[in-house]
Amino acid sequence: MNPSASSEIYAGLMSGTSLDGIDIAILDFSEYPPRLLHAETAPYSDGVRQRLRDLCQSPTTTLDDLYTLDAELGEMYAQFVNHALKSADIDRATVKALGCHGQTIRHSPDSPVPFTVQIGDPNRIATLTGITTVADFRRMDIALGGQGAPLAPAFHRFLFRSDEEDRALVNIGGIANLTLLPANPEQAVIGFDTGPGNTLLDYWNGTHRDSAYDDAGTWASSGQVIETLLEQMISAEDYFNLEPPKSTGTEYFGPSWLSQFVDNLSDATDVQATLVELTALTIANAISQLPQPPQSLFVCGGGAHNKYLLDRLAANTPDCKLATTEALGMHPDFVEASAFAWLARARIELQVGNIPGVTHAERAAILGGVFLAG
Ligand SMILES: Nc1ncnc2c1ncn2[C@@H]1O[C@H](COP(=O)(O)OP(=O)(O)OP(=O)(O)O)[C@@H](O)[C@H]1O
Ligand SMILES: [Mg+2]
Repeated sequence: MNPSASSEIYAGLMSGTSLDGIDIAILDFSEYPPRLLHAETAPYSDGVRQRLRDLCQSPTTTLDDLYTLDAELGEMYAQFVNHALKSADIDRATVKALGCHGQTIRHSPDSPVPFTVQIGDPNRIATLTGITTVADFRRMDIALGGQGAPLAPAFHRFLFRSDEEDRALVNIGGIANLTLLPANPEQAVIGFDTGPGNTLLDYWNGTHRDSAYDDAGTWASSGQVIETLLEQMISAEDYFNLEPPKSTGTEYFGPSWLSQFVDNLSDATDVQATLVELTALTIANAISQLPQPPQSLFVCGGGAHNKYLLDRLAANTPDCKLATTEALGMHPDFVEASAFAWLARARIELQVGNIPGVTHAERAAILGGVFLAG
């Protein structure tokens, strides 16, 4: 399949650490801002989610488990792309390339031999969609001594920077990551993971209630923050005080992290309220430590649907105007998938994908491997 040389249509596939499913965004970059042609989410089945969780958390999974799921995910991604193209009535021949982040199952940038692993076989995606696929975005940055994360800040700068005000963006996925976009283009963009986003909220909700997440944070809002627990979690955890660059994962801020602080005697509803406060406060603290305080804070990611979390974030950042990226013309659920469409475009056009000041890679680099469709 040879898309016309002038096509500027790219697709992005994102499946984040919450293990909720796969997001696709298809954008036309021939105009600025790029036009979002189609966006959709496919939830993982319970079975796939559990197998992914096992891969992420269990030390006993085998290489066969890993590579079987890698292959299956590749097929799942491809089927979802084909479905999305059909339902949006987009001719695949017009899509220049797609960028697939893959599913992170390990992110270990600070271990003695740093590594990060995303699965979802891009060979299968390219073959089954007929679309050139770009994948493996993070490992070049790791090879250059960087964190390999976060990668979205370059896209945030492309789309959301303003000449009028210093802006911060926070993506509240499983983990929360913050980007500072100074109005002055000479000033450095800053980006790092602040710590847990939804991951502990989903875990605690799932162990006490029969739902994947606490819709709009209603359950949490009915509890009381346990101040001593909040204080313990924040003071005992070095990550929150580390200077950037820093990135983390749900394999760290997971059930065993939480079990250091919470026992069966704790009131479940109050713990949920406290975990919301932990996410809100660690984001707010990270903002207050930025070299310049942003005037506005824009939220994206699934956490943008958690009304109670947004209320608590607003309460903890009284000097910032708070809105979701909807106010900037981009649906909060599809910023990250759009970032991987943009990163695919950067790769195809041999443009830099990372910001070394953010990831601390030795240098700027072209990110991702290209898997040709035919
Ligand atoms: N209506 C809602 N109310 C509360 N929380 C919600 C709602 N909808 C989504 N969420 C939360 O958002 C999460 C999914 O967010 P998202 O897809 O951005 O995370 P992710 O896949 O981990 O992404 P990434 O790692 O790329 O940032 C869900 O697991 C849930 O916690
Ligand atoms: Mg997701």
